[in-house]
Order: sequence, then structure tokens, then C-alpha cells
Amino acid sequence: MSEPKSQNIRWHGANITREEREQLLGQRGCVVWFTGYSGSGKSTVSRRVEQLLLERGVTAYGLDGDNLRFGLNKDLGFSAEDRKENIRRVGCVAQLFMDSGCVALTAFISPYRSDRQAARELVGEGRFVEVFVDTPLEVCEARDPKGLYKKARAGEIGQFTGISAPYEPPESPEIQLKTDGRSVDECAAEVVAWLAEQGFLSA
Ligand code: ADX
Repeated sequence: MSEPKSQNIRWHGANITREEREQLLGQRGCVVWFTGYSGSGKSTVSRRVEQLLLERGVTAYGLDGDNLRFGLNKDLGFSAEDRKENIRRVGCVAQLFMDSGCVALTAFISPYRSDRQAARELVGEGRFVEVFVDTPLEVCEARDPKGLYKKARAGEIGQFTGISAPYEPPESPEIQLKTDGRSVDECAAEVVAWLAEQGFLSA
């Protein structure tokens, strides 16, 4: 990543190591990064995962594409450059949540491999769980929960992922989640089971 614009700044470390923090909290921080087309089910499944984790006593917090664009990322649109900045900021915020010991769940289309790779490097290998919400474009378009595909086909929305902007699927995601013909609960349970098996849900 590029150097900060500010000079004369100094990094202040915590009094406690990440390991000590995690021992005290009884859980390990990580970033569960959902990626996929609009309408693939990223937000819905990640929200259910968040709920299931909280119910079993694991602190988890969901960051969502549409939601962050109301605040932190309200100055960004959907050009490749703006999406890159969107994902860079989300990566930074998710990394902070992870550092606090939380399970951060992110739900962003994040269509570019290089942007997701940058987030992975920032968070650190072993803490970054890429979940490819592998719902075919035709299924997302048929679902069209927000009516956006219809508008994109009609030329009312430009640079729409899958229609007039690219989506680069992950090559080796930690989890490849098929949603077509499966319930939200089934999909969410698969993610929670994977996290538990890999030891993410206890310190
Ligand atoms: S990302 O590409 O930068 O990762 P992000 O996940 O934040 O996108 O936002 C995607 C959401 O914005 C979609 O689910 C949809 O509701 C909305 N949206 C509006 N315009 C577009 C567009 N041109 N392409 C994709 N999504 C769009």
C-alpha cells in the first residue's frame, strides 16, 4: 500500500498482544469476506452467519456494501477506481475489527481479484476467509431482489456488475458456497461449520 500523506506520525502499539487479547475474549479474530454478484445472497447469508455466531457467544459484526455506501463510502461510485477504494477502506475497517478479536463479516461484490488480494494481504493469510457466493448470474438476474438488473438491462444503470462491468471469480476461495436451490440456513450453517472446524470460534 502507498505511504501515508501525513508526516510526523507514529504508530502506538497496544499494551496487550493480540494473542493475550484473544485468550481473554475466548475467540480468534478473522475476516470472513463474502464476494459474488449483486443478488447472489452475500448480505443475506452473512447476516444469518452473524446471528448464528452471536447466538453461540462469538462476537461478530457484519459490514455490508449497500450500508457502507451511506456513510464511510458515500463519496464513491462504481467505476473500477472507486470500487478499488471502496474495497481498500473496507479491508482496513475489517482488519481493525479482526485485530479487536471480532469475527468481521464483509459482504461486498468486490469484483476485482487484485482488490480482494490486497485485502487478504492486509488482513494476513490464515485470518482471511474468502467465501465465494457462487450463484450464477442468470439466477441473480432472475431473483433481481432490488430490480437493478432490469434497470441495468434497460441502460438505466451503467457499469453494472455482470451486465456492463466485470466480475472476476475467486480462483481458490476458502469456501465456495452454492446457494441455488438451498436455504439461507443451510448456506449459513456451512460457513459456521467451516469456521468451527478451522478453530476460528474459540481461542
Ligand atoms: S463493489 O463492487 O464496490 O464491491 P458494493 O458491494 O459496495 O460494490 O455495492 C454493490 C451494491 O450496490 C449492489 O448490491 C447494488 O445494490 C448496488 N449497485 C448500484 N449500482 C451498482 C452497479 N453499477 N454495479 C453493482 N452494484 C450496484
